[in-house]
Amino acid sequence: MVAARITVNGEEAPLSPAAPHTTVLDFLRERGLTGTKEGCAEGECGACSVLVARPGVNKPTDWVAVNACLVPVAALDGQEIVTSEGLATAGAPGTPPALHPVQEEMAVRGGSQCGYCTPGFVCSMAAEYYRPDRCAHADADAGSDAEHGPNGFDLHALSGNLCRCTGYRPIRDAAFAVGAPAEEDPLARRRDQAPPAPVATEYAQDDSVFLRKATLAETLLLLRERPDAVVVAGSTDWGVEVNIRSRRAGCVVAVDRLPELRQLRVASDSIEIGAALTLTEIERRLDGDVPLLAELFPQFASRLIRNGATLGGNLGTGSPIGDSPPALLALDASVLLADADGEREVPLADYFTGYRQSVRRPGELIRAVRVPLPLAPVVAFHKIAKRRFDDISSVAVAFALDVEDGIVRRARIGLGGVAATPIRALATEAALEGRPWTAETVEAVAPLLRDEGTPMDDHRASAAYRSAMLGRSLLKLYTRTTEAVSS
Ligand SMILES: Cc1cc2nc3c(=O)[nH]c(=O)nc-3n(C[C@H](O)[C@H](O)[C@H](O)COP(=O)(O)OP(=O)(O)OC[C@H]3O[C@@H](n4cnc5c(N)ncnc54)[C@H](O)[C@@H]3O)c2cc1C
Ligand code: FES
Ligand code: FES
Repeated sequence: MVAARITVNGEEAPLSPAAPHTTVLDFLRERGLTGTKEGCAEGECGACSVLVARPGVNKPTDWVAVNACLVPVAALDGQEIVTSEGLATAGAPGTPPALHPVQEEMAVRGGSQCGYCTPGFVCSMAAEYYRPDRCAHADADAGSDAEHGPNGFDLHALSGNLCRCTGYRPIRDAAFAVGAPAEEDPLARRRDQAPPAPVATEYAQDDSVFLRKATLAETLLLLRERPDAVVVAGSTDWGVEVNIRSRRAGCVVAVDRLPELRQLRVASDSIEIGAALTLTEIERRLDGDVPLLAELFPQFASRLIRNGATLGGNLGTGSPIGDSPPALLALDASVLLADADGEREVPLADYFTGYRQSVRRPGELIRAVRVPLPLAPVVAFHKIAKRRFDDISSVAVAFALDVEDGIVRRARIGLGGVAATPIRALATEAALEGRPWTAETVEAVAPLLRDEGTPMDDHRASAAYRSAMLGRSLLKLYTRTTEAVSS
């Protein structure tokens, strides 16, 4: 096996002697690439953003921005990354490197004061700069939309980057001023070639090891042999455990590049979504075909987190405030669980058994999530949190209703944040089914929804607030559907 190595700004660097739990951020800074900053070490600030070459959605390769503080460097064995230092192109000997167009715009428009956040901003901005379909959405008249520039720039690309001193307007000005990449731009050209292939990795130092197998079958055999192993995909949860709670694992097994976990299959009766596709990949590949998920994605963390986070990881944590379970419960989804003996399908409604507990057995992986078709036409995802973006839910409610001839034929409602596990609002569903979709029905049924679950007081919200939000959410859905009909 070739010694583990990573290509940073075009140069190969061996991983050794970094410990297997070393983050990309610490690895870079140890090598003197101190442009990449640590602000929070838990994925909240974006100061550590770097670009990774990943399989593309519209081109062979996409430059994807991720939080370097969360990803173990061993997970990028054989991969290519670019840091803020690598964005600038080297000039003639003795002359300073030329600024990258996003760096240039940040400088001339006053997008940087103390500069601590700036390398992270320019990496996130560069990823959006290189998004292949950005320029196709460019429209000189679209400047009135506060979140999309006339150059097609989607400001949500920066939703995971915080700045404490500049204020965001000059940063937005810079983002909305960048043009199209020049033809000879090496990073733009890189998109036309295949992304680095995943490589099998066995990276051991002292008494811990990071392992990546080439296939699902090999991974499942490994998990049978090593029941102590910690499975990681995007590492957006695991990275926080390592940094903030100092958790260490003797054996980490990566599943994020397994081809069997990265497929999206659309059949006549279902859509199967691979557990290791990132949320950004799912969002871009579905392109609105599952409207409830299309509503969920922008409310899930930030673009930086969604570029790493997977559905397998979101279900794998078993968190009662994970955002995908309420939506997947409303979609009547099931989970495909694989181990060395085969595969089984479990309805998501039967998957969670207690606080962070599930029916998943040791050695079992989530291979995919299956969403049955056809989809219910009336859907909504309401996330109640303290901030509009990049925040954890206090309460999440997902609706999927079949309303035919004004009657609710079928109702599925998924809830998060109101019990030890994500749950279905069974009493509310039963009360809605067969009744007319009217203000009277909504008024009669809302108290039932308010009383679903067993919400608790915690630092995010009180139990009373959570219950009140549940009741209001049905009204909000009704108002939105009737407004849509009357407009
Ligand atoms: C700043 C920040 C903001 C966040 N915001 C949100 C938010 O708004 N909403 C939300 O729901 N979550 C949020 N999260 C949590 C996290 O991003 C999600 O839970 C994400 O989906 C985890 O996916 P991952 O691939 O990164 O998981 P990892 O960290 O790689 O793994 C998480 C767990 O899942 C297990 N696992 C991973 N893949 C599989 C698999 N295929 N089969 C079995 N087990 C598996 C792992 O063993 C591990 O226990 C946030 C996290 C951060 C750091
Ligand atoms: S250091 Fe804050 S997101 Fe990584
Ligand atoms: S310029 Fe100081 S934090 Fe952004």
